[in-house]
Amino acid sequence: MKIKNICCIGAGYVGGPTMAVIAQKCPGIKVTVVDINENRIASWNDEDVENIPIYEPGLAAIVKEARGRNLFFSTEVDSAIDEAEMIFISVNTPTKTYGIGKGMAADLKFIELCARQIARVAKTDKIIVEKSTLPVRTAEALKNILDNTGNGVHFQILSNPEFLAEGTAVQDLLNPDRVLIGGDADTRKGKDAIQSLVDVYANWVPAENILTTNVWSSELSKLSANAFLAQRVSSINAMSELCEKTGADVEEVAKAVGMDSRIGPKFLKASVGFGGSCFQKDILNLVYIAKSYGLNEVADYWEQVIIMNDHQKRRFAVKMVQTLFNTVSGKKIALLGWAFKKDTNDTRESAAIYVADYLLNEHAEIVVYDPKVKPEQIYADLDYLNTRSSGENRTRVKVVNTSYEATRDSHAIAVLTEWEEFKQLDWGKIYENMLKPAFIFDGRRLLERKAIEEIGLKFYAIGN
Ligand code: UDX
Ligand code: UDX
Repeated sequence: MKIKNICCIGAGYVGGPTMAVIAQKCPGIKVTVVDINENRIASWNDEDVENIPIYEPGLAAIVKEARGRNLFFSTEVDSAIDEAEMIFISVNTPTKTYGIGKGMAADLKFIELCARQIARVAKTDKIIVEKSTLPVRTAEALKNILDNTGNGVHFQILSNPEFLAEGTAVQDLLNPDRVLIGGDADTRKGKDAIQSLVDVYANWVPAENILTTNVWSSELSKLSANAFLAQRVSSINAMSELCEKTGADVEEVAKAVGMDSRIGPKFLKASVGFGGSCFQKDILNLVYIAKSYGLNEVADYWEQVIIMNDHQKRRFAVKMVQTLFNTVSGKKIALLGWAFKKDTNDTRESAAIYVADYLLNEHAEIVVYDPKVKPEQIYADLDYLNTRSSGENRTRVKVVNTSYEATRDSHAIAVLTEWEEFKQLDWGKIYENMLKPAFIFDGRRLLERKAIEEIGLKFYAIGN
């Protein structure tokens, strides 16, 4: 079937950019992105495309080109489902915070709600595409709900996991390493559904980069890919601690290791810890699945990646306290960066949240500057941890508009996100306005040790 009308449920970090690129590359397909969050949809429709709710380099221009032509954002979920031949489900699947699997399993509440809504509304056959990252065999549950509550129409389920990374989402979507489509190739209808989605991507992705598998392989590949990536970060972070003890330099080690073509140089940057909405959630999910099959060794193996990451965040904060003469009580500490990586305003699971929380427990006064994250988000992130009252978070954490303001009269600085602009700062001026001795802790290995030390700052970087 040639697809002419696509609906995507969920206008978030995945749904928004993915649909914008599909609309740009397939002018013959009408793409409607729907969401229950009215404010979010209103922002996607803001006349000034710079105000769309997600910051991604290059995204605003694509939205500007396609919006109103064949890209639409709406809260009218029912009519969008009704019109579409293909429906992407791109709602969030957070880690469960209650009941069985609490703290590990993915909460599929929103996925199930979507399935029930589709079943209720659909009057014609639909292809349902899982875009959200899901536990293996979710497609089976989806199919069960759709087939048993629907109006007798036929549903084909495909798994099409998203591999875009935030901050480079547009480039990743335009030039993907691979597009993965899982479906039921054993039936004619299954084959047709797979081909329909292949045809959509074939508008801009070379055929050899479009990979088709069975549904379960596709679902598991997404969890595996994220687990492998996160594992590399935890591996180099484990080495970073050893480097600090032995006099090795983690950057040199990473380079030497990465030059082995079997290993490769990417994802070997030591840091204050990985964040983001996916790595932790997907690994916990993998651990939960392994445990539920009784595969305890498999579960323990992957859980260690998370344990190492938690250790890295805590260790960084402990190092700060120890270096500042074992107390940060009442001391002003400037945090540069709050987003979980550069070029995004997303803060989910950002290491900065945990470092700030730890320092607040030690009675520090925190001042934060991030070029893209709004103050309300920073307070919401801290409130979510429930460590102290939201009133206290607001008195003890200040959010300011420049790095210079954040660092003035501070005892120490922590660089927590690798924003390019931090490299260009006038570090001499910053040093002059700090209390002495002035300390800087580089959690991203962003700054040149020699240059910073020459200015007079006491410098600590992860991994040497
Ligand atoms: C996605 C995936 O869905 C997740 O599984 C993956 O691992 C990471 O990326 P993301 O796009 O980052 O999530 O989530 P988010 O930005 O929270 O967007 C989800 C949107 O779905 C929200 O705007 C929310 O309002 C919307 N939603 C949620 C609905 O429209 N309907 C619902 O029933 C639930
Ligand atoms: C990740 C996957 O890369 C992507 O394919 C998947 O679809 C979603 O999850 P994302 O979380 O957006 O993407 O960003 P990513 O670039 O993977 O970074 C994740 C975290 O790891 C960030 O906090 C980043 O700073 C950190 N990281 C990454 C390191 O600390 N060192 C590295 O070498 C690489």
